[in-house]
Amino acid sequence: MAKVLYIEASPRKERSASIEVANNFLNAYRAAHPDDTVETLDLWATDLPRFDQSTLDAKYAILHGQPHTPGQKAAWEAVERIAAQFNSADKYVFSLPMWNFGVPYILKHYIDVLLQPGLTFSFTPEEGYKGLVTGKPAVVIYAQGGQYPKGTPWEN
Ligand SMILES: Cc1cc2nc3c(=O)[nH]c(=O)nc-3n(C[C@H](O)[C@H](O)[C@H](O)COP(=O)(O)O)c2cc1C
Repeated sequence: MAKVLYIEASPRKERSASIEVANNFLNAYRAAHPDDTVETLDLWATDLPRFDQSTLDAKYAILHGQPHTPGQKAAWEAVERIAAQFNSADKYVFSLPMWNFGVPYILKHYIDVLLQPGLTFSFTPEEGYKGLVTGKPAVVIYAQGGQYPKGTPWEN
């Protein structure tokens, strides 16, 4: 029995193209894998921790092998909760809109909180950076409004 984490990044809900495709995908997935569970993380309905000074200092304390101050500890616990949910999944589905040729800021916020030493990656001078979340499949459903045809400079 696998756990799928579905991460939703469009605020447009019933008008969202990416969510419509994701819902169809997940309905087909559930039919094919009735024993699996799907947990939804709606980023617009989630109180993501701010990546502020305390959080940043907590990150660098880890990288430098130093203990956390009480303020850093509290900030880091909020980050750990986000990473624990992500790491508990076996598979991932992302749905997101193209915003300004990139991703919505709320997804970047989530990624900046999630990518942390000891939680989702490790770093040693000998081995460099190593991902800690490996071997888990991910589907990314990315909706865009414009057209970027093959053969044009803006093809994607
Ligand atoms: C703030 C904003 C920025 C956008 N930027 C782009 C863009 O750079 N390129 C593009 O093709 N479409 C762009 N769009 C259009 C969306 O990608 C399009 O509406 C898509 O359907 C959004 O996905 P959704 O329906 O799941 O929300 C933008 C829309 C918004 C609201």
